[in-house]
Formats: sequence, C-alpha cells, structure tokens
Amino acid sequence: MKRIGILTAGGDTPALNATLLGAVHKANECGIELIGLLSGFQALYRPDVPHLLLNPGLTAIPELDATRGGTILGSSRTYVDETDPAALATAFERLKLLNFDGLICVGGDGTLNGMQPLCECLPTVLAPKTIDNDLGLNYLGEASEWLREKNGAEVVYTRREVSSDESNKFALESIVNYVTPGYATAVFVAAEGIHRVRTTAESHRRIAIVEVMGRHSGYIAVGASYGQPDIVLIPEVRVDVGTLARKVQEICQHQQHAVIVCGEGIQDADGNFFGDSRRSSDPAGNHRFAGAAASLKQSLLNEIPHSFLRELGGFSDPDTALFTRKVGHTQRGGRPLSFDRYHATQLGYHSVEMLIGGQSNRVATLQWNAEDLTFAVDDYDAKVFRDEWGEIHPRTVHPELYDVVNFDITATAQQYLQPIFDNAIGADDTEYIRQSLFDSGNLHDDYQSVNVKLQNRIEYLS
Ligand code: F6P
Repeated sequence: MKRIGILTAGGDTPALNATLLGAVHKANECGIELIGLLSGFQALYRPDVPHLLLNPGLTAIPELDATRGGTILGSSRTYVDETDPAALATAFERLKLLNFDGLICVGGDGTLNGMQPLCECLPTVLAPKTIDNDLGLNYLGEASEWLREKNGAEVVYTRREVSSDESNKFALESIVNYVTPGYATAVFVAAEGIHRVRTTAESHRRIAIVEVMGRHSGYIAVGASYGQPDIVLIPEVRVDVGTLARKVQEICQHQQHAVIVCGEGIQDADGNFFGDSRRSSDPAGNHRFAGAAASLKQSLLNEIPHSFLRELGGFSDPDTALFTRKVGHTQRGGRPLSFDRYHATQLGYHSVEMLIGGQSNRVATLQWNAEDLTFAVDDYDAKVFRDEWGEIHPRTVHPELYDVVNFDITATAQQYLQPIFDNAIGADDTEYIRQSLFDSGNLHDDYQSVNVKLQNRIEYLS
C-alpha cells in the first residue's frame, strides 16, 4: 500500500483528531501516504475533491493535535447515495483519480451505512466514533432482532421481544465495541453540568431537568449518573408522567428540590416523543430531536399540583419551580479526555493495519477483557452490525442497565461504566484547565482557527 485516504463523517466528537493521528502513526511506520478528504463524503461531490496530505515526509503535520476537539478535516452529514448510480459512479471515479489503495472512514452508524457502496470499488474500513456510544452491539446477533414493516410509504423498524434466555446473553466482555471515542468526554461535560445545576436547584428549591444528547440511545444519560441526578430518563423506556410526577414530589418532600436528567429522545407512555423529532437526511435514518426537557417540564406542570410547586420555593408562579438546561453541543466539542484520546489513537492505528492486512468492509472495535481488566482493539465484519435488510441500527441501552421502577441505573450499569471512567481523566486534562482557561492571552488574542492554518496545505484535483 502506498496511499490511503481518510475522512471524518457525521457529527463530530472531541476525539477525531486523535483517531487521525493514530492512523498517521501507522502510515508513517509503513511508509504510506495518508490523504485526508475534506468535510467527509462531501469532498467526493466536488469535481476538485479538496484533500490534504496528513504526513508529508512521513511526519504528522503540526496542525494535527490529538488534544484538540473536532476534526481538522471537517465533517458533514453528506453521504454517497447508493440508490443514485450516477453519484456512485462519480464518487468511484474520483477515488480512482486520487490513487488510493484503501479508504478509512471515521464515523458512526450513518457512516457505516454510507460507506457500504464504496467497499465495492476500494478496500474501505471504519474507525468508530460517536459521543452517543451507539455504534456497537450489546451482544453478537443483536442485529438479527430487528423486524421491518411497511407503514404506507414509510419503512418502520421494531425490535422483536427477546426471551429471557436471549437477553441473558448480555455480559460486559461480550459487548461488541464496548465504547466509542467521544463518549467519555461527552459524559464528562454532561455530568459536570448536572453537578453545577444541582447546587442552584438545591438553593432555590427548584426542579431541574437537564437534557443530554444521544438520540435514540440513552448511554449518555446513563453515564451522566456520575453527576448524581435524582432521576434518569432514557429513550429506551417510555415515561409514565403520572408515576414520574409522584416520584418527583416524593424527592421534593424529602430534599426540597430535584434534578432529573433526560435523553433527548425520551418518549411518553404512548410512544410519542417529548418535544420535536424530525428525520434527518443521513443514511442511518437518524432523527433530530429538539425540546425534550421543555416538553417534559410542561407535562410535569400539568401533573403536579400547582399548590405543591408554589410552596416548594415560595413561588408566585408554579412555572418557576421547574427549569430546564440543555447541555447541547458543549458535549461534542472541546478537548478530549485522556481515555478518548488514547483509545481513538489505537483505533485509528488499527484501521490502517486492517487495510494493510487486506481487509475491507470491517469495523475496528474496542473490546473489554474482563480477565486482565483492559481494553483491547479488535475488528468485526461490518455484516455483524447489519440487520437482515442491511440496515445498521443505533445500539440502545440494554434492559440490564436500567432500573425502570426507580428511574435509575442498575448495579450492572455501574459495572459497565467503571472501566471507562475510573481513569478517564488524565493529570494533563486537569492541568490543562488550570493553565489555559484564564490565560490572560485569551483576553487579547483572537482565536486562531485551524481552518485558516490549513488553507495552504489543501490540494485539489485539476
Ligand atoms: O450523533 C451525535 C449527535 O450529537 C446526537 O447526539 C445529536 O442528536 C445530534 O448529533 C445533533 O446533531 P446536529 O449537530 O446535526 O444538530
């Protein structure tokens, strides 16, 4: 192999540059040129295919810094449409003109769906990333539990009931891709936000609802338990507002305030999303969610007696008793924690190894080894993530991780989280905050964007 392409696609995570750097390290060892395509698959839609050499002279470019969030290559949710033969043919032709011997896509479920057609023209592998921690399987064979039905023009996927024997398959060491780079940092930001909201809710005798990302998957909400919320709501388990309201009142009677964390994709008892949900254009058929916390607040306002809410903090308006905070895109940005950097680098490195080993349509994964208590890099055929119709579905929180009665995570979830978070924060992460946040230079120096710094390195196909 002489020349490999790499791109970052889908929503960014803080660990993407670390993955790119891992790939550069392996490429350098093997004397391979690593070319980054700009803005994910969007590069292939442009006749000049903007790209840049990440390792001139087999040295990483200085702009590639594993401690910086985002991706120096840029990302987009544009994918090559496999149902459009002309678009596919153009993409194939442009990849050929770039003389790639292989392609690495750094992405999540949308990217894995989107890269499928490319495997037919070029060895292509996936290095996983997503803050949602939803690229993976709770156990091998999970993808076969999906059912498909047509509802008019719409194709609807549901999960079939699994017998207790089948769900007993769940074991930490059997999880396929235990954790995705970006998840730890997102949980760090969410948990920190919950801790901060806590003391203000406590002081003013209020009920705080903190909304975290994750779409259909509640892994970020589960991890946000490190922030010690009183109630955790995940998209996988429908919320009965009456039961929730009673629980909130119990908590408030005891401590005069409450903190609720909810995933953005939570649903009510009838399966309606709280807030808005729109289908996005990415090939995972992902939804875009907005307003879950605000909508949940309204439902609780309708359910909890207003006299109770007024008395809680001596409020004239019961509405004041409840407030919402959306952690939002701060979960996706900024410096990655040591855990994410380390493992993202390993996965990037391994993705080059996979191509060198002649593999294609495979996914680099991180597996938990319960015997020696370490994570190991492995890889799986992309097929294992697909249902029988070829679709990849986001991994959802396994029932063993969530206590439906107490709106809380289970002891198994605690066991799941500890290997990730026990040492997730490096000493350099805390030192970085101490040294950089209130650096007086921040007050007078303008932000220097890496996008500007890279301008001179970008090359185009003529
Ligand atoms: O998939 C990552 C993610 O951050 C989700 O958790 C969230 O719903 C979505 O992306 C937000 O996407 P956008 O930034 O395009 O609004």
